[in-house]
Amino acid sequence: MNKKLLAVILGAGLMLAACGGGDEEAEPADTGTTETETETATVDPEKIVNAKCTSCHGGNLEGQGNFPALNDVGTRLSNDEILNVIENGRGAMPGGLVTGEDAEAVAAWLAEKK
Ligand code: HEC
Repeated sequence: MNKKLLAVILGAGLMLAACGGGDEEAEPADTGTTETETETATVDPEKIVNAKCTSCHGGNLEGQGNFPALNDVGTRLSNDEILNVIENGRGAMPGGLVTGEDAEAVAAWLAEKK
């Protein structure tokens, strides 16, 4: 008598594998803008003046030749008048070397020079 070993293989039906991922993980919304603030917290007027103005007005703003001194300009001109010269120029002084906030900061700084 042969002994039949019937290996009943169960199995096939049990592939209820875990592939049923219904919930696609929502990708974190890319906000895109990690706005890097380029705005400098503080304008350094002295740096600007050293870079743009001293070639004519002298290394210490003491003036030279036809270029008036700026180290005492606050005694002659108000903040607004200085700003006006910076923005619009005057005579041989070219305007627009410095603009916007920078110009305002420079004007305020120079207005203190007395
Ligand atoms: C190309 C040379 C030149 C440069 C650069 C220059 N200036 Fe002048 N600046 C002059 C001249 C020339 C005058 C005199 C204008 C006049 O005769 O009315 C003057 C006059 C001025 C005055 C008026 C002074 C006064 O006593 O009335 C101010 C303020 C001034 N400049 C600020 C600046 C500042 C701030 C900068 C830098 C951003 C600058 N200047 C760069 C040539 C220059």
